[in-house]
Amino acid sequence: MLKDKKIVLGITGGIAAYKSAELTREFVKMGADVKVIMTENATKFITPLTLQTLSENPVYTDMFLLTGEVKIDHISLAEEADILIIAPATANIIGKIASGLADDLLSTTVMATKAPILICPAMNTNMYTNDIVRENINKLTSKNYFFVEPGHGELACGTEGPGRLPPLEDIVEEVESILTEKDLAGEKILITAGPTQEPLDPVRYITNYSSGKMGYALAIMARRRGAEVTLISGPTSLPEPFGATFLQVSSAIEMGDAVMNNMNDSTIIIKAAAVADFRPAILSNNKIKKGNGLSNVNLERNPDIISEVGRKKGDRILVGFAVETENLIENARNKMIEKNMDLIVANDVTQHGAGFQSDTNIVKILDREGGMEELPILDKIMVANRILDRIKAVKVPKV
Ligand code: CTP
Repeated sequence: MLKDKKIVLGITGGIAAYKSAELTREFVKMGADVKVIMTENATKFITPLTLQTLSENPVYTDMFLLTGEVKIDHISLAEEADILIIAPATANIIGKIASGLADDLLSTTVMATKAPILICPAMNTNMYTNDIVRENINKLTSKNYFFVEPGHGELACGTEGPGRLPPLEDIVEEVESILTEKDLAGEKILITAGPTQEPLDPVRYITNYSSGKMGYALAIMARRRGAEVTLISGPTSLPEPFGATFLQVSSAIEMGDAVMNNMNDSTIIIKAAAVADFRPAILSNNKIKKGNGLSNVNLERNPDIISEVGRKKGDRILVGFAVETENLIENARNKMIEKNMDLIVANDVTQHGAGFQSDTNIVKILDREGGMEELPILDKIMVANRILDRIKAVKVPKV
């Protein structure tokens, strides 16, 4: 979603400056136009040539350099930026901004821009926890500057604690979030994702191919759009989505309990999980040994979570998924009505580019009035965006 966004990246003089090379690369890969400003101290940690090569743009280091452009650099950079990011940000630049000082290209650009500013502090733990630095950060936060908290860990100076540059994925996600309109602010969205695992004995379980990607994409996008998100997830290999309340579960029974305990607080419930319909009727306490033989496994039904939610939902919006391999529309429509959903996302997993493991999906969104929106093949994050658009339209029907 950062395609064609104009990012001004300020780099200040800290050891983490080398990580801003990777950050630049990430933004460029996503299609953003990145202009880098380096303070004089930053150039002692990493060369402008590295940043110039990676950003595919000139690197700005000197306030009074004549670049041949008509406008002076701090004004043109300040005006063109969709967002200004400072990563890593030292105690010095934070102090300068908090005091309104503008004595080099980066600090003057900060003062001159109307774009949102994201500051990613990275410094020694004692500096980060120093009262004056805390006061400066609090002051800037109250003036709508954005911060990503530094990570904890071993620092280059040998101490341990907060001060590491936050993981680059968190910085990128925060940039995405800042640049996304907050049209779901005030909504509390409960999302389920991933498969469930139904244990047979201590080392075996029954599950399905769900990767969790669709549900996680919904959690990421809903949070970017300003919603408070709770994600209840079965076992997946995906990283916890930044900024969401995350509840890890394993079996359908655990997922059901977590949904029931959290649904009252929500305004929208999206059930993207691929819940196992059956579980082994008997859970063996010990590993089942092959020598004893096993001619069959008796299964019993798991609770149908969404049906229970459908009965108790009140005026909450309930969205389900239908994973089908035949009669897609008819099966999906029946599920929506039977389980009292407001919308159902129908998904024919036999199509190439759709389904569990894929990064893309091909879905149809059906509503209770008989309407159907057919989406083309899209990245799951874009599918998530369109599902949220549709949910918004159900909440605020067009007159
Ligand atoms: N679901 C659920 N609890 C279950 C099974 C499914 O909450 N025990 C939810 C899923 O999260 C999804 C919707 O119900 O949102 C439809 O799931 P799906 O597996 O397609 O349908 P089933 O109702 O299980 O029907 P069938 O297996 O017969 O297709």
